[in-house]
Amino acid sequence: MTADPRSLFADHAQRLAGTTLRELLADPSRNARLRQRLGPILLDLGRQKLDLAALDALGAHVEAGDWQRARDAMFAGAPINASEQRAVLHTALRAEGSSLPSPAPAEVLHEIGEVLARMEELANALGQGEGGRLGLADGITDVVNIGIGGSDLGPRLAVRALTPFHAGRLRSHFLTNVDGQAAYELMRALDPKRTLVVMVSKTFTTQETLLNGNVLREWVAAAYAGDERQAVARHFVAVSANVGAAAAWGIPAAHVYPMWDFVGGRFSLWSAVGLSLALAVGMDHFRAMLAGAAQVDDHFRTAPWQRNLPVLLALVEFWNRNVQGRASRAVVPYADLLSDLTAYLQQLEMESLGKRVTPQGEPVAQATVPVVWGSVGTNAQHAYFQALHQGTDVVPLEFIGVARPAHPLRANHDALLSNLLAQAAALALGKTFEEALAESGGDPVLAAQRTFPGDRPSTVILLDALTPASFGALVALYEHKVFMLGHLWGINAFDQWGVELGKSIARQILPALADGDAAALDPATRALVAEIRERREVA
Ligand code: F6P
Repeated sequence: MTADPRSLFADHAQRLAGTTLRELLADPSRNARLRQRLGPILLDLGRQKLDLAALDALGAHVEAGDWQRARDAMFAGAPINASEQRAVLHTALRAEGSSLPSPAPAEVLHEIGEVLARMEELANALGQGEGGRLGLADGITDVVNIGIGGSDLGPRLAVRALTPFHAGRLRSHFLTNVDGQAAYELMRALDPKRTLVVMVSKTFTTQETLLNGNVLREWVAAAYAGDERQAVARHFVAVSANVGAAAAWGIPAAHVYPMWDFVGGRFSLWSAVGLSLALAVGMDHFRAMLAGAAQVDDHFRTAPWQRNLPVLLALVEFWNRNVQGRASRAVVPYADLLSDLTAYLQQLEMESLGKRVTPQGEPVAQATVPVVWGSVGTNAQHAYFQALHQGTDVVPLEFIGVARPAHPLRANHDALLSNLLAQAAALALGKTFEEALAESGGDPVLAAQRTFPGDRPSTVILLDALTPASFGALVALYEHKVFMLGHLWGINAFDQWGVELGKSIARQILPALADGDAAALDPATRALVAEIRERREVA
């Protein structure tokens, strides 16, 4: 897979440049093939600028790359994260919900089962207000998840998405940024004696998480007359692959829920990283989410590419990015409950696929991840959709809708979905100059402003309803799409070396901010450090 896709697919791109989506959408057999269902998810790719010949050429391309072998290696636990020599086994975390036998190592499956059982024990005890059964405080009402990146975005997304399934006893909060404002506000709002802090950090070395943990540890300790040991024992649990560091920080081993090197942070929602979700909705719903994801795993492992939703999503992204040259993709959920989905996907896709060399250290043959951005509709329509309809750049969109809402306000929901469908139609069909002229009383100047070029691609993902199972399925769908793109682009989707340089420079700057010794820093940073030091003390 080394040839530049632009030349590989040049004939198809040229042919399609001579057509419009208006014309393509007139072919029902094309539309039917581009609309595929998987359990509670309908994927409609009919408004992508593709015909069946181009789709089949993309399919032939992916088949030539032996993707099934790569996929099976991941599920079996081969060390496909080569730069870290690690397996990639987030699928094993939900294997209990699969109807296929798991090829993951038996000891891995056993350990996962044990941790799920411990999560259940905790969720049941806290759900009954009886943390004391596990050595924690009784009467916990609030749970604060401290974590960042994959240790925050997944549980945050899930807790919000599944609000209608919350059991009601425990309120969830998320403390993530190192900006002290959020910690300060939480401490003013909560009662330390009724708060459980869940420290989530795979490495247990992350600056933001440890700093926020220290702040909350002091706050709870103050309620125990400064007895930090008792405060931590009764009010803190940890989720980490670095059990030793969590214990050294003060969290008793019995309150550390392990995760493992074979689970990447951005793929970890299914592990104890999802503890905040389990506490909010209970373990039955948590397991239903795992089962929904497992249904997608089974589909990914068995469906031919023509009906394989993660493969189709990846092929469309490949087409837009590498053949059509689109540099970004907007994700617009028409569901307030999914308001954190875009941020979640930014990490999942951009941290996984933002690479420029192969695992062998060679430059990649084509562009990799587009910028992922977006926010909920309809609000997005009243902000940046003008540019999406009439701006000079074409931005592929992804609309996510839910057919059956979790509330009884039918008129609101119909309005919401009519807007989703209208935007997809308007982007695809546009409005010709002649149509605009007829509307503009024959004024060609006004008609030019009122013309919509159309032909702007979008995908619609429609969930039957937003449930633990459909939510799990949706997230797993994106995970496997990321796997497929990593395979197509010839990159390792499971490491993230690009986050390291900034972290190490921040470690150099921190003491300079405190003591002013900035001699080792570059001139631009040195000047800003001096400005900050000079101004921060001014009243
Ligand atoms: O800085 C990036 C990153 O390493 C992510 O990959 C990860 O999800 C996040 O930081 C948090 O890391 P940890 O769970 O080790 O605190």
